[in-house]
Amino acid sequence: MNTYFAICPRGLEELLLEELRDVGGAELKAIPGGVFFAGDWATCYRANLESRLATRILWHIVKGPYAKEEDIYRLAVRQLWPNHFAVSRTLRVVTTAIKCPLKSLDFVTLRVKDAVCDRFREDLGERPNIDTRHADVSVHVFLSENECTLYLDTSGQPLWQRGLRKASVEAPLKENLAAGILKMTGWQPGTPLVDPMCGSGTFLLEAVQMAIDRAPGLDRGFAFELLRHFDAAAWAAIRNAAEARVKPAEPMEIRGYDIDDKAVRATRRNLQEAGFGGVLTVDRSDLLDTQPLTEHGILVTNPPYGERIGEQDELAAFYPQLGSALKKHWAGWNCFFFTADLRLPKLVGLKPSRKTPLFNGPLECRLFEIRMVAGSNRKA
Ligand SMILES: C[S@@+](CC[C@H](N)C(=O)[O-])C[C@H]1O[C@@H](n2cnc3c(N)ncnc32)[C@H](O)[C@@H]1O
Repeated sequence: MNTYFAICPRGLEELLLEELRDVGGAELKAIPGGVFFAGDWATCYRANLESRLATRILWHIVKGPYAKEEDIYRLAVRQLWPNHFAVSRTLRVVTTAIKCPLKSLDFVTLRVKDAVCDRFREDLGERPNIDTRHADVSVHVFLSENECTLYLDTSGQPLWQRGLRKASVEAPLKENLAAGILKMTGWQPGTPLVDPMCGSGTFLLEAVQMAIDRAPGLDRGFAFELLRHFDAAAWAAIRNAAEARVKPAEPMEIRGYDIDDKAVRATRRNLQEAGFGGVLTVDRSDLLDTQPLTEHGILVTNPPYGERIGEQDELAAFYPQLGSALKKHWAGWNCFFFTADLRLPKLVGLKPSRKTPLFNGPLECRLFEIRMVAGSNRKA
């Protein structure tokens, strides 16, 4: 049995824990920023393939106490790296830390790289090459105040890179954050869904994949394929089973709109290239004019944050109009706004029934749920 740490955007830990339980993870434990779990290699392959929320999955190699850099070197040089990957693989080391008293994390990175290479040289007489950008194998070093944990990355490119989104816009959401927000809305396939400010269509792409039960990693490779332990037959069986369960993509009550032609084109292109061209509609529309086509449903969107100069004021003027539009057109809908602009509910003039803190990278955000009750808001 191996142990792993799955990293995710902060705020999604409990939902990630459920996902990992579903793929067979055991001894699950959520901490801020991720979830520890145990399982065999098949569980690790499935977690990489199936998790919509994880950013990457790290395989735990060793944990030990440290006080200075040389303690970390000694811990790293003792590990049997040549048993884990071939010397022909390129290597990089990534260090992260919380409350670490050491002066330089770069120096820790360097010493761990030295340790791994020294171990190879001692055992095989040669060492792997370093590639700081596109390495085959990544050793992750995590330092707490007095403990060092070494991991090997099993994912490679971050898992939010599904390989589906070809065209982008300014400030697109990462796919795993979008999938997490979608899960938090309680949306289920079959329920009408609208993203009225869809940008490059991230929510829409995630929703369609959920609806057809398509594993998010079907279109990409993973770092575990380059480790010595890789069991190609087991992986092929897991992948084939995931492919076989994908349902045909039939037209769905999912709609995207954006005020910007470029965004509409980007979303259409992304849907088309993912094979979801005829499945849902995307049109150009100002949210202030957009109207739902069904009585009930879920609106989920990620409005501009107000990062550009002048945008804060534009937004302050936009929110009251948004409040009026919601009351006029969206009664009966449950509306979710994901934003870093904490003024939104106050300026929209509608009381959120839930405010969930979530992080978009380092940026603290909220998912505001505003229930538009049929009838009552209209009168207000
Ligand atoms: C932060 S981006 C959304 C990014 C999107 N979630 C993604 O992952 O690609 C905000 C989008 O809102 C659109 N927008 C701004 N004002 C709008 C309005 N009044 N009506 C509709 N869309 C609007 C912008 O064109 C932009 O594409």
